[in-house]
Amino acid sequence: MPITNWRISTLLTMKKVIEIQNIKRNFQVGDETVHALRGVSFNINEGEFVTIMGTSGSGKSTLLNILGCLDTPTSGEYLLDDIPVRTMSKPQRAVLRNRKIGFVFQSYNLLPKTTAVENVELPLMYNSAVSASERRRRAIESLQAVGLGDRLEHKSNQMSGGQMQRVAIARALVNNPAVILADEATGNLDSRTSFEILVLFQKLHAEGRTIIFVTHNPELSQYSSRNIRLRDGQVIEDTANPKILSAAEALAALPKNDED
Ligand SMILES: Nc1ncnc2c1ncn2[C@@H]1O[C@H](COP(=O)(O)OP(=O)(O)OP(=O)(O)O)[C@@H](O)[C@H]1O
Ligand SMILES: [Mg+2]
Repeated sequence: MPITNWRISTLLTMKKVIEIQNIKRNFQVGDETVHALRGVSFNINEGEFVTIMGTSGSGKSTLLNILGCLDTPTSGEYLLDDIPVRTMSKPQRAVLRNRKIGFVFQSYNLLPKTTAVENVELPLMYNSAVSASERRRRAIESLQAVGLGDRLEHKSNQMSGGQMQRVAIARALVNNPAVILADEATGNLDSRTSFEILVLFQKLHAEGRTIIFVTHNPELSQYSSRNIRLRDGQVIEDTANPKILSAAEALAALPKNDED
């Protein structure tokens, strides 16, 4: 069988970035054990744009915190870029997180009264191999990639919600991470700004980035390549999206004065 371009690109994109096996996470609250994750398994390949959905309390943030090495599972295995995370010490995990993960949160988590470029430089501060001038250069490049090349010196309180989230995405990108994790990244934004951020995530996906995007909004799943749905700490659906909608088209179709 001739090797087509499609097959070559498929083979090239088959590298596993995330591999989890039977992840469980219990929380002890007084006498009660909360089973937040009850045995979750999946692999995520390089270049996938995965939406994780589920109702409130289904375990989305718990899962994302584990994937982002902010938390460790009660049991189960986790390989991030082929590195076994479970057996690592806390400081080792912190280094791994800094090098491999870009985080985007609902509430942006920017330093207040700090400029966009300084916020984006932050993850590189922990990397002694990167000089101050290189750090500045990469932060500017990252801000340009999210369309904020003209807001470098704006402070967090001098920007809109959508702009702050772009700064947070630039900060997530600056380390060239293996995976970008977003927890309700559009949760605080109106629908027009949400679609603008979604356009940006689709652009990053088209450039080959691996993205895991947690949302409770099922509509947003139509813009990613794969959908995982959680219920009561278990995966109840894991499907490829056969028809990925264009966020740019959805944005163009929104009424101009939409302010909800
Ligand atoms: N630190 C904790 N201590 C005790 N219970 C917790 C803790 N974190 C999460 N839980 C519980 O674990 C379950 C899953 O919570 P999680 O935050 O992962 O849900 P979620 O899907 O992100 O919900 P939401 O859509 O509201 O953000 C919930 O029942 C929650 O109460
Ligand atoms: Mg949550």
